[in-house]
Amino acid sequence: MAITKDFKPNKLSDYLEATGLKGKNFKFVDDLSKEGLLSLFKAAEVLEPYWRSKLNIMNGKVLCTMFFQPSTRTRFSTETAMIRLGGSVITESDPSHNSSVAKDESLWDTLRVVSQYANIIGLRHPDDKQVFEALPAAEVPVISCGWGNITHPTQGLLDMYTVYRAFGRFEGLRVMVTSPDLTRARSGHSFALGLARMGAEIVYSGPKNLKTPDLIKGKLNDMGAKYEEHFDLNKKEQGELITTCDLVYLPGCSVPVGQDARDVFMEKAANYYIDLETLEKAKKKTGKIIGIMHSLPRFKGEFDFRIDNTEHELYFKQISFSVAIRMALIASMIGIS
Ligand code: CP
Repeated sequence: MAITKDFKPNKLSDYLEATGLKGKNFKFVDDLSKEGLLSLFKAAEVLEPYWRSKLNIMNGKVLCTMFFQPSTRTRFSTETAMIRLGGSVITESDPSHNSSVAKDESLWDTLRVVSQYANIIGLRHPDDKQVFEALPAAEVPVISCGWGNITHPTQGLLDMYTVYRAFGRFEGLRVMVTSPDLTRARSGHSFALGLARMGAEIVYSGPKNLKTPDLIKGKLNDMGAKYEEHFDLNKKEQGELITTCDLVYLPGCSVPVGQDARDVFMEKAANYYIDLETLEKAKKKTGKIIGIMHSLPRFKGEFDFRIDNTEHELYFKQISFSVAIRMALIASMIGIS
Protein backbone atom coordinates (compact mmCIF):
# COMPACT_ATOMS: atom_id res chain seq x y z
CA MET A 1 0.00 0.00 0.00
CA ALA A 2 1.11 3.55 -0.71
CA ILE A 3 -0.55 6.94 -0.35
CA THR A 4 -2.00 8.17 -3.67
CA LYS A 5 -3.78 11.32 -4.86
CA ASP A 6 -7.08 9.33 -4.96
CA PHE A 7 -6.84 8.16 -1.31
CA LYS A 8 -10.31 8.65 0.29
CA PRO A 9 -12.95 6.80 2.34
CA ASN A 10 -15.14 4.16 0.66
CA LYS A 11 -18.43 5.54 -0.66
CA LEU A 12 -21.17 3.13 -1.76
CA SER A 13 -22.64 5.53 -4.35
CA ASP A 14 -19.22 5.84 -6.07
CA TYR A 15 -18.97 2.05 -6.47
CA LEU A 16 -22.56 1.76 -7.70
CA GLU A 17 -22.11 4.57 -10.22
CA ALA A 18 -18.81 3.11 -11.48
CA THR A 19 -20.59 -0.10 -12.58
CA GLY A 20 -22.20 1.90 -15.40
CA LEU A 21 -25.44 -0.09 -14.94
CA LYS A 22 -27.81 2.70 -13.92
CA GLY A 23 -30.97 2.64 -16.04
CA LYS A 24 -29.73 -0.26 -18.19
CA ASN A 25 -30.94 -3.81 -18.63
CA PHE A 26 -28.71 -6.62 -17.35
CA LYS A 27 -28.61 -9.34 -20.01
CA PHE A 28 -25.12 -10.87 -20.00
CA VAL A 29 -22.25 -10.77 -17.48
CA ASP A 30 -20.05 -9.21 -20.18
CA ASP A 31 -22.40 -6.19 -20.21
CA LEU A 32 -19.97 -5.16 -17.45
CA SER A 33 -16.36 -4.15 -18.06
CA LYS A 34 -13.60 -5.49 -15.81
CA GLU A 35 -13.66 -2.21 -13.87
CA GLY A 36 -17.48 -2.36 -13.68
CA LEU A 37 -17.37 -5.88 -12.25
CA LEU A 38 -14.76 -4.87 -9.66
CA SER A 39 -16.89 -1.87 -8.64
CA LEU A 40 -19.89 -4.16 -8.25
CA PHE A 41 -17.88 -6.55 -6.05
CA LYS A 42 -16.70 -3.59 -3.93
CA ALA A 43 -20.31 -2.41 -3.56
CA ALA A 44 -21.34 -5.94 -2.58
CA GLU A 45 -18.60 -6.02 0.08
CA VAL A 46 -19.98 -2.78 1.54
CA LEU A 47 -23.51 -4.25 1.50
CA GLU A 48 -22.58 -7.77 2.64
CA PRO A 49 -22.97 -7.10 6.41
CA TYR A 50 -26.65 -6.32 5.68
CA TRP A 51 -27.53 -9.54 3.82
CA ARG A 52 -29.40 -10.78 6.92
CA SER A 53 -30.60 -7.37 8.18
CA LYS A 54 -31.73 -4.14 6.53
CA LEU A 55 -30.67 -0.85 4.99
CA ASN A 56 -32.95 1.88 3.78
CA ILE A 57 -31.48 2.93 0.44
CA MET A 58 -34.30 1.64 -1.83
CA ASN A 59 -37.14 3.03 0.26
CA GLY A 60 -40.17 3.64 -2.00
CA LYS A 61 -38.74 1.56 -4.88
CA VAL A 62 -40.53 -1.53 -6.17
CA LEU A 63 -39.09 -4.70 -7.71
CA CYS A 64 -41.45 -6.82 -9.81
CA THR A 65 -40.41 -10.43 -10.36
CA MET A 66 -42.07 -12.48 -13.11
CA PHE A 67 -40.81 -16.05 -13.40
CA PHE A 68 -42.11 -18.05 -16.37
CA GLN A 69 -39.94 -20.99 -15.23
CA PRO A 70 -39.61 -22.57 -11.79
CA SER A 71 -37.10 -21.15 -9.32
CA THR A 72 -36.19 -21.29 -5.66
CA ARG A 73 -32.84 -19.49 -5.39
CA THR A 74 -32.97 -16.77 -8.04
CA ARG A 75 -36.43 -15.48 -7.24
CA PHE A 76 -36.10 -15.58 -3.46
CA SER A 77 -32.57 -14.19 -3.48
CA THR A 78 -33.48 -11.29 -5.83
CA GLU A 79 -36.58 -10.49 -3.76
CA THR A 80 -34.62 -10.77 -0.49
CA ALA A 81 -32.00 -8.40 -1.91
CA MET A 82 -34.63 -5.72 -2.62
CA ILE A 83 -36.23 -6.16 0.81
CA ARG A 84 -32.82 -5.93 2.54
CA LEU A 85 -32.23 -2.67 0.64
CA GLY A 86 -35.45 -1.26 2.10
CA GLY A 87 -37.52 -1.58 -1.09
CA SER A 88 -40.71 -3.55 -1.79
CA VAL A 89 -41.51 -6.52 -4.01
CA ILE A 90 -44.46 -7.48 -6.18
CA THR A 91 -44.18 -10.97 -7.61
CA GLU A 92 -45.77 -13.53 -9.89
CA SER A 93 -44.20 -16.98 -9.78
CA ASP A 94 -46.46 -18.51 -12.43
CA PRO A 95 -47.35 -15.72 -14.90
CA SER A 96 -48.37 -18.14 -17.67
CA HIS A 97 -51.40 -19.07 -15.55
CA ASN A 98 -51.88 -16.24 -13.06
CA SER A 99 -51.17 -13.08 -15.10
CA SER A 100 -52.95 -11.79 -18.21
CA VAL A 101 -50.43 -13.74 -20.29
CA ALA A 102 -52.99 -16.53 -19.72
CA LYS A 103 -55.40 -14.29 -21.72
CA ASP A 104 -52.80 -14.12 -24.51
CA GLU A 105 -51.30 -10.76 -23.55
CA SER A 106 -47.90 -10.40 -25.23
CA LEU A 107 -44.63 -10.18 -23.33
CA TRP A 108 -44.15 -6.78 -25.00
CA ASP A 109 -47.34 -5.38 -23.47
CA THR A 110 -46.69 -7.14 -20.16
CA LEU A 111 -43.29 -5.45 -19.76
CA ARG A 112 -44.71 -2.07 -20.74
CA VAL A 113 -47.56 -2.38 -18.25
CA VAL A 114 -45.43 -3.68 -15.37
CA SER A 115 -43.00 -0.77 -15.96
CA GLN A 116 -45.79 1.57 -14.79
CA TYR A 117 -45.79 -0.09 -11.35
CA ALA A 118 -42.22 -1.16 -10.74
CA ASN A 119 -38.83 0.59 -10.72
CA ILE A 120 -37.04 -2.57 -11.81
CA ILE A 121 -38.13 -5.95 -13.21
CA GLY A 122 -36.61 -9.41 -12.60
CA LEU A 123 -37.65 -11.71 -15.44
CA ARG A 124 -37.11 -15.45 -15.95
CA HIS A 125 -38.28 -16.84 -19.28
CA PRO A 126 -37.68 -20.02 -21.30
CA ASP A 127 -37.39 -18.20 -24.68
CA ASP A 128 -34.49 -15.73 -24.95
CA LYS A 129 -35.51 -14.67 -28.51
CA GLN A 130 -38.98 -13.67 -27.31
CA VAL A 131 -37.44 -11.70 -24.43
CA PHE A 132 -34.97 -9.83 -26.63
CA GLU A 133 -37.83 -8.85 -28.99
CA ALA A 134 -40.00 -7.61 -26.10
CA LEU A 135 -37.27 -5.86 -24.11
CA PRO A 136 -37.56 -2.43 -25.82
CA ALA A 137 -41.11 -2.17 -24.39
CA ALA A 138 -39.80 -2.04 -20.81
CA GLU A 139 -39.56 1.47 -19.42
CA VAL A 140 -37.52 0.43 -16.37
CA PRO A 141 -34.36 -1.71 -16.17
CA VAL A 142 -34.87 -5.45 -16.58
CA ILE A 143 -32.66 -8.09 -14.93
CA SER A 144 -32.21 -11.41 -16.68
CA CYS A 145 -33.01 -13.99 -14.02
CA GLY A 146 -32.40 -16.69 -16.67
CA TRP A 147 -33.48 -16.43 -20.33
CA GLY A 148 -33.56 -19.52 -22.55
CA ASN A 149 -30.50 -21.73 -22.45
CA ILE A 150 -28.14 -18.86 -23.00
CA THR A 151 -28.02 -16.34 -20.18
CA HIS A 152 -28.36 -16.34 -16.38
CA PRO A 153 -26.09 -13.43 -15.47
CA THR A 154 -27.07 -12.90 -11.83
CA GLN A 155 -26.05 -16.52 -11.20
CA GLY A 156 -22.79 -15.72 -12.99
CA LEU A 157 -22.33 -12.69 -10.75
CA LEU A 158 -22.89 -14.60 -7.52
CA ASP A 159 -20.45 -17.27 -8.69
CA MET A 160 -17.89 -14.57 -9.54
CA TYR A 161 -18.43 -12.82 -6.22
CA THR A 162 -17.90 -16.10 -4.33
CA VAL A 163 -14.57 -16.58 -6.13
CA TYR A 164 -13.62 -12.94 -5.48
CA ARG A 165 -14.30 -13.40 -1.76
CA ALA A 166 -12.55 -16.78 -1.61
CA PHE A 167 -9.40 -15.95 -3.60
CA GLY A 168 -9.38 -12.13 -3.93
CA ARG A 169 -8.24 -12.57 -7.55
CA PHE A 170 -9.14 -14.20 -10.86
CA GLU A 171 -5.89 -14.07 -12.81
CA GLY A 172 -3.95 -17.31 -12.51
CA LEU A 173 -7.06 -19.36 -11.64
CA ARG A 174 -7.99 -22.36 -13.78
CA VAL A 175 -11.70 -23.10 -13.63
CA MET A 176 -13.30 -26.19 -15.09
CA VAL A 177 -16.87 -25.88 -16.40
CA THR A 178 -18.16 -29.40 -16.92
CA SER A 179 -21.55 -30.85 -17.80
CA PRO A 180 -23.17 -33.71 -19.74
CA ASP A 181 -24.92 -30.95 -21.74
CA LEU A 182 -23.08 -27.66 -22.28
CA THR A 183 -25.69 -26.46 -24.80
CA ARG A 184 -28.16 -25.76 -21.99
CA ALA A 185 -25.70 -24.65 -19.32
CA ARG A 186 -26.86 -21.03 -18.99
CA SER A 187 -25.28 -20.57 -15.55
CA GLY A 188 -22.00 -22.06 -16.84
CA HIS A 189 -22.05 -19.68 -19.82
CA SER A 190 -22.63 -16.69 -17.53
CA PHE A 191 -19.83 -17.68 -15.15
CA ALA A 192 -17.46 -18.28 -18.08
CA LEU A 193 -18.13 -14.79 -19.48
CA GLY A 194 -17.31 -13.27 -16.10
CA LEU A 195 -14.17 -15.40 -15.72
CA ALA A 196 -13.04 -14.36 -19.18
CA ARG A 197 -13.64 -10.69 -18.40
CA MET A 198 -11.50 -10.98 -15.28
CA GLY A 199 -8.67 -12.99 -16.88
CA ALA A 200 -9.17 -16.50 -15.41
CA GLU A 201 -8.61 -19.61 -17.55
CA ILE A 202 -11.67 -21.68 -18.50
CA VAL A 203 -11.43 -25.45 -19.00
CA TYR A 204 -14.54 -26.91 -20.62
CA SER A 205 -15.23 -30.63 -20.44
CA GLY A 206 -18.33 -32.16 -22.01
CA PRO A 207 -19.65 -34.23 -24.90
CA LYS A 208 -18.64 -33.15 -28.42
CA ASN A 209 -22.24 -33.24 -29.65
CA LEU A 210 -23.47 -30.97 -26.80
CA LYS A 211 -20.76 -28.32 -26.62
CA THR A 212 -20.74 -24.64 -25.64
CA PRO A 213 -22.91 -22.59 -28.07
CA ASP A 214 -21.22 -20.43 -30.73
CA LEU A 215 -22.79 -17.26 -29.30
CA ILE A 216 -20.89 -17.79 -26.04
CA LYS A 217 -17.67 -18.83 -27.76
CA GLY A 218 -17.94 -15.74 -29.98
CA LYS A 219 -18.12 -13.58 -26.87
CA LEU A 220 -15.16 -15.42 -25.28
CA ASN A 221 -13.13 -14.93 -28.47
CA ASP A 222 -14.05 -11.22 -28.59
CA MET A 223 -12.69 -10.85 -25.05
CA GLY A 224 -9.49 -12.75 -25.92
CA ALA A 225 -10.41 -15.35 -23.30
CA LYS A 226 -8.08 -18.18 -22.38
CA TYR A 227 -10.20 -21.31 -22.78
CA GLU A 228 -9.75 -25.00 -23.61
CA GLU A 229 -12.38 -27.49 -24.74
CA HIS A 230 -12.07 -31.17 -23.84
CA PHE A 231 -14.54 -33.65 -25.26
CA ASP A 232 -15.77 -37.11 -24.29
CA LEU A 233 -13.11 -37.76 -21.64
CA ASN A 234 -13.20 -41.01 -19.73
CA LYS A 235 -13.35 -40.96 -15.93
CA LYS A 236 -9.56 -41.24 -15.51
CA GLU A 237 -8.90 -38.43 -18.01
CA GLN A 238 -11.56 -36.23 -16.37
CA GLY A 239 -9.92 -36.88 -12.95
CA GLU A 240 -6.50 -35.89 -14.31
CA LEU A 241 -7.90 -32.71 -15.83
CA ILE A 242 -9.66 -31.80 -12.56
CA THR A 243 -6.29 -32.07 -10.77
CA THR A 244 -4.93 -29.25 -12.99
CA CYS A 245 -7.75 -26.87 -11.92
CA ASP A 246 -8.41 -24.65 -8.88
CA LEU A 247 -12.19 -24.83 -9.14
CA VAL A 248 -14.76 -27.10 -10.78
CA TYR A 249 -18.10 -25.60 -11.76
CA LEU A 250 -21.16 -27.76 -12.39
CA PRO A 251 -23.94 -25.81 -14.14
CA GLY A 252 -26.48 -28.53 -13.34
CA CYS A 253 -29.61 -29.13 -15.41
CA SER A 254 -32.19 -26.36 -15.77
CA VAL A 255 -34.58 -28.53 -17.83
CA PRO A 256 -37.80 -29.37 -15.92
CA VAL A 257 -38.83 -32.97 -15.19
CA GLY A 258 -40.61 -34.70 -18.09
CA GLN A 259 -38.56 -33.17 -20.94
CA ASP A 260 -36.25 -35.30 -23.16
CA ALA A 261 -33.21 -33.03 -22.67
CA ARG A 262 -33.32 -33.80 -18.96
CA ASP A 263 -33.16 -37.54 -19.63
CA VAL A 264 -30.11 -36.99 -21.90
CA PHE A 265 -28.42 -35.08 -19.05
CA MET A 266 -29.17 -37.79 -16.51
CA GLU A 267 -28.03 -40.62 -18.80
CA LYS A 268 -24.63 -39.01 -19.38
CA ALA A 269 -24.11 -37.68 -15.83
CA ALA A 270 -22.06 -40.72 -14.72
CA ASN A 271 -19.27 -39.81 -17.19
CA TYR A 272 -18.82 -36.46 -15.42
CA TYR A 273 -19.32 -37.62 -11.82
CA ILE A 274 -16.91 -36.00 -9.33
CA ASP A 275 -15.95 -38.11 -6.35
CA LEU A 276 -14.30 -37.04 -3.13
CA GLU A 277 -11.37 -39.40 -3.69
CA THR A 278 -10.32 -37.45 -6.83
CA LEU A 279 -10.19 -34.22 -4.81
CA GLU A 280 -8.32 -35.87 -1.92
CA LYS A 281 -5.80 -37.43 -4.30
CA ALA A 282 -5.27 -34.05 -6.00
CA LYS A 283 -4.69 -32.39 -2.63
CA LYS A 284 -2.11 -35.02 -1.69
CA LYS A 285 -0.35 -34.62 -5.04
CA THR A 286 -0.41 -30.82 -5.42
CA GLY A 287 -1.36 -29.47 -1.97
CA LYS A 288 -4.24 -27.66 -3.67
CA ILE A 289 -7.79 -27.60 -2.29
CA ILE A 290 -10.03 -27.75 -5.37
CA GLY A 291 -13.32 -25.94 -4.78
CA ILE A 292 -16.55 -27.48 -6.09
CA MET A 293 -19.19 -25.03 -7.29
CA HIS A 294 -22.69 -25.84 -8.52
CA SER A 295 -25.56 -23.53 -9.47
CA LEU A 296 -28.05 -25.93 -7.82
CA PRO A 297 -30.48 -27.65 -7.72
CA ARG A 298 -28.26 -30.75 -7.73
CA PHE A 299 -29.02 -34.37 -8.43
CA LYS A 300 -27.62 -37.64 -7.10
CA GLY A 301 -25.30 -38.95 -9.77
CA GLU A 302 -23.66 -35.57 -10.57
CA PHE A 303 -21.14 -35.57 -7.74
CA ASP A 304 -20.32 -37.10 -4.39
CA PHE A 305 -22.53 -35.53 -1.69
CA ARG A 306 -19.87 -36.38 0.93
CA ILE A 307 -18.15 -33.23 -0.42
CA ASP A 308 -20.83 -31.27 1.52
CA ASN A 309 -18.88 -31.61 4.75
CA THR A 310 -15.42 -30.85 3.40
CA GLU A 311 -13.31 -27.79 2.60
CA HIS A 312 -14.05 -28.35 -1.11
CA GLU A 313 -17.72 -27.35 -0.75
CA LEU A 314 -18.57 -23.95 -2.23
CA TYR A 315 -22.09 -24.58 -3.58
CA PHE A 316 -23.96 -23.64 -0.41
CA LYS A 317 -21.54 -20.80 0.29
CA GLN A 318 -22.45 -19.42 -3.18
CA ILE A 319 -26.04 -19.10 -1.94
CA SER A 320 -24.97 -17.07 1.09
CA PHE A 321 -23.02 -14.63 -1.12
CA SER A 322 -25.92 -14.27 -3.58
CA VAL A 323 -27.94 -11.69 -1.65
CA ALA A 324 -25.16 -9.10 -1.25
CA ILE A 325 -24.23 -9.17 -4.94
CA ARG A 326 -27.89 -8.90 -6.00
CA MET A 327 -28.30 -6.00 -3.57
CA ALA A 328 -25.38 -4.30 -5.31
CA LEU A 329 -26.85 -5.07 -8.73
CA ILE A 330 -30.32 -3.71 -7.96
CA ALA A 331 -28.92 -0.56 -6.33
CA SER A 332 -26.61 -0.02 -9.32
CA MET A 333 -29.40 -0.42 -11.88
CA ILE A 334 -31.84 1.84 -10.04
CA GLY A 335 -29.15 4.15 -8.65
CA ILE A 336 -28.90 5.96 -5.32
CA SER A 337 -28.27 9.66 -4.85
N1 CP B 1 -29.43 -21.54 -9.57
C1 CP B 1 -30.70 -21.32 -9.93
O1 CP B 1 -30.98 -20.63 -10.94
O2 CP B 1 -31.62 -21.89 -9.11
P1 CP B 1 -33.19 -21.68 -9.20
O3 CP B 1 -33.65 -22.31 -10.50
O4 CP B 1 -33.75 -22.36 -8.01
O5 CP B 1 -33.47 -20.21 -9.25
